Amino acid sequence: MFHELNSRREFLKFMGASGASLSTLSLLSCTKNTTPSRTSLPFAPLKPNREDQLNLAQGFSYDLMIQWGEKINDRGELFGFNNDYLATVPMPLKNKNEAILWANHEYFNSLFINGLKRGESKNKKQILKEMKSVGGSLLKIKKGTKGWKVIPSDYNRRVDGTSKIPFVSSRPIAGSKYAIGTSANCAGGVTPWNTILTCEENYDYNYGEVDMINKKRTLVKESVQDSQWEKYFKYPPEHYGWVVEVNPYTGKAKKLTGIGRYAHECATVRQAADGRCVVYSGDDKNDGCLYKFIADKPNSLESGQLYVADTQKGRWIPLDYKKHKVLQKHYNDQTDVLVYARKAAIQIGGTPLDRPEDIEINPKDQAVFVSLSNNKPKGNYHGSILKLEEKDNNPFALEFRARVFLAGGQGTMFSCPDNLAFDRKGNLWLTCDISGGAMNKGTYKSFGNNGLYYIPMSGPEAGMVLQVASAPNDAELTGPCFAPDGRSLFLSVQHPGERSKSLNDLTSHWPKGGPSTPKPAVVEIKGPTMDKLLS
Ligand code: FEO
Ligand code: CA
Ligand code: CA
Repeated sequence: MFHELNSRREFLKFMGASGASLSTLSLLSCTKNTTPSRTSLPFAPLKPNREDQLNLAQGFSYDLMIQWGEKINDRGELFGFNNDYLATVPMPLKNKNEAILWANHEYFNSLFINGLKRGESKNKKQILKEMKSVGGSLLKIKKGTKGWKVIPSDYNRRVDGTSKIPFVSSRPIAGSKYAIGTSANCAGGVTPWNTILTCEENYDYNYGEVDMINKKRTLVKESVQDSQWEKYFKYPPEHYGWVVEVNPYTGKAKKLTGIGRYAHECATVRQAADGRCVVYSGDDKNDGCLYKFIADKPNSLESGQLYVADTQKGRWIPLDYKKHKVLQKHYNDQTDVLVYARKAAIQIGGTPLDRPEDIEINPKDQAVFVSLSNNKPKGNYHGSILKLEEKDNNPFALEFRARVFLAGGQGTMFSCPDNLAFDRKGNLWLTCDISGGAMNKGTYKSFGNNGLYYIPMSGPEAGMVLQVASAPNDAELTGPCFAPDGRSLFLSVQHPGERSKSLNDLTSHWPKGGPSTPKPAVVEIKGPTMDKLLS
């Protein structure tokens, strides 16, 4: 039995800080802190630090796999900026030493891409360069004696902010059957039929946001001034904020409207014995909800029913136009409900949560783990990891039990949980996302730079949080993804030096060091301690 919270003090502190959204959850009684002695740990955890390095605990090492701006094919396509989610799928002929790696490219930084300071005016060419820096990359990788490498291949290609992507929808979205581009690609998922789900998160940055007020579409938020994309490319906000399914063998993509439109962090799939899937996804904003989509056909996510979690009563509520008078009052049809899913979810009783980020399913018992990053306006600064168990372990259940698995804070020494990954031994890996402006200050000071953590799920150390890596300055470690053989970890180092004010005043020089400009990159983490943990 793992410790659901590390100490009574931490539990009480969490309860006090978690706000209304979590205080009503069914919580396990807390256990005594029985921290094992340091000598019994699987490795000596890294101490939090603020060095401009990818620092690793003893017995771990890393190799760079690819970095922003590298040419990936003969068509001149480049590896995009701010790589986030990583996933692999097997090659068609299933050679176990080869695979296709997908990397999300979440957002751009005009300083590094175009040498522009904040607010400087952009021309069309510069904007196109930024549009091509987001979306995702497909790369062939191969395992050699020195680990996994990106290799030249016809499979290497980009999906980006200029790609034409059709909607899977019962009617056009804002008058169109397709969108131009995908952007804000944060985390994602892989389907059992080996397609990639890439999730559009902070989509309002480039195209603003609309609302449905008295059944009328109303612009409620302008795009962020710094984007300027709308100067030349004025696309409807409704075209963004979806889960996008990508065929990694052809690069073809489609936007799946059935899973709803909101700031999708991820899309985590569980398949039932009859071939139908459920998809869990969270709306990463303060007081955003947790959702489950139940597909109605095997091996497809094109049609089904979307539900929102009521964590107070432990039930999934259908976002079904026919079933709720309040939805009929505010929207014109079911497609409207999906386009404005965020608002519709609250209108039918969805529980506002503390920024739901990544979701992973424990391969051992199918429990659903959800990172709740933080909710600063509600006084929750360090977040928690929620554990949700479907009734009778049935993916289609409409009832569940939810409780706190671990709370962030001084007791556990992690804060603002984000990405999760289970390894081949069933242990959990976590990356954290303390925002650049908050890092190493005030309540976040003792956590140092953002980190990667290992959480044993069984044995005497179960539930302990051991730091493995510390990111370079301003960076976030994201997209943890185990290599196809399960023996090493692919990891994104995202936005190093993000707070640099100019190219002459850089806050990070990772990965090259010296006076160099920082570059987001993908690394492979390995080494004798990794071998010990994963063998
Ligand atoms: Fe892009 Fe919610 O992290
Ligand atoms: Ca994230
Ligand atoms: Ca994040």
